[in-house]
Amino acid sequence: MKEKIDLNKLPNHIAVIMDGNGRWAKKQGAARVFGHKSAIKAVRDITEGCAELGVKYLTLYAFSTENWSRPKAEVQALMQLLVSTIRSEVSTLMDNDIKLATIGDTKSLPSRCQKELSEAMEITAHNNRMTLFLALSYSGRWDILNAAKKMALDIAENRQLIDQIDEQDFANYLDTSGVPDPELLIRTSGEQRISNFLLWQMAYTEFFITDVLWPDFRKENLYEAIISYQNRERRFGMISEQVNG
Ligand code: IPE
Ligand code: IPE
Ligand code: MG
Repeated sequence: MKEKIDLNKLPNHIAVIMDGNGRWAKKQGAARVFGHKSAIKAVRDITEGCAELGVKYLTLYAFSTENWSRPKAEVQALMQLLVSTIRSEVSTLMDNDIKLATIGDTKSLPSRCQKELSEAMEITAHNNRMTLFLALSYSGRWDILNAAKKMALDIAENRQLIDQIDEQDFANYLDTSGVPDPELLIRTSGEQRISNFLLWQMAYTEFFITDVLWPDFRKENLYEAIISYQNRERRFGMISEQVNG
């Protein structure tokens, strides 16, 4: 499948809602946490797959603001897994020249997660091939509200003129500041919703929804998503003739 991808029409930025870990585990009579542990392989495979192709930004929805409402033991297990995974994957990130970054309210994460993350970000800071964003304690509404607060402060302190603020200025207050909007969103496990992910940034993103559960998602599935994206006509409100003219 890889040969069918047009490398000149690659998305710059792919966003992924990694969903279905719990159902994957349940299907084999295991605890949900086993699904989360088994998801690491998919994360590694897709991160590597994107970097190899030349995708510049990959954003993985790893933990939403709403996920804090899950049973305490599951939240704890996810945080523990985050720490151990970051620790073990730094060498893979270095080998693949990938920079690690985060979006979301990471200050709300346990301090050992924050420490592990900031160390990994520091170590990988000069890598250039691709940036991997982990969305942690992230939600689109949190991002927009946070941006609005920062902008309000700049207005109140005369660093911004309210009448001159355009969409680009506002986007610069978001956690994704400086990063192009994702052209492609992949959601696994068949759910057809956005679950409070990149609400502002996905205004014109193409959606690829697959029934594959996240722990089973591999490079071939990634290629299928990219090929599907490349076969679409993105009209941005215009008509076909304009886009092709
Ligand atoms: C996605 O898998 C991982 C996180 C949200 C952290 P789920 O845990 O949501 O799995 P399902 O949707 O219950 O199968
Ligand atoms: C979305 O998955 C969040 C992440 C993948 C981290 P959920 O499983 O939490 O989404 P909903 O609540 O079912 O929409
Ligand atoms: Mg889910």
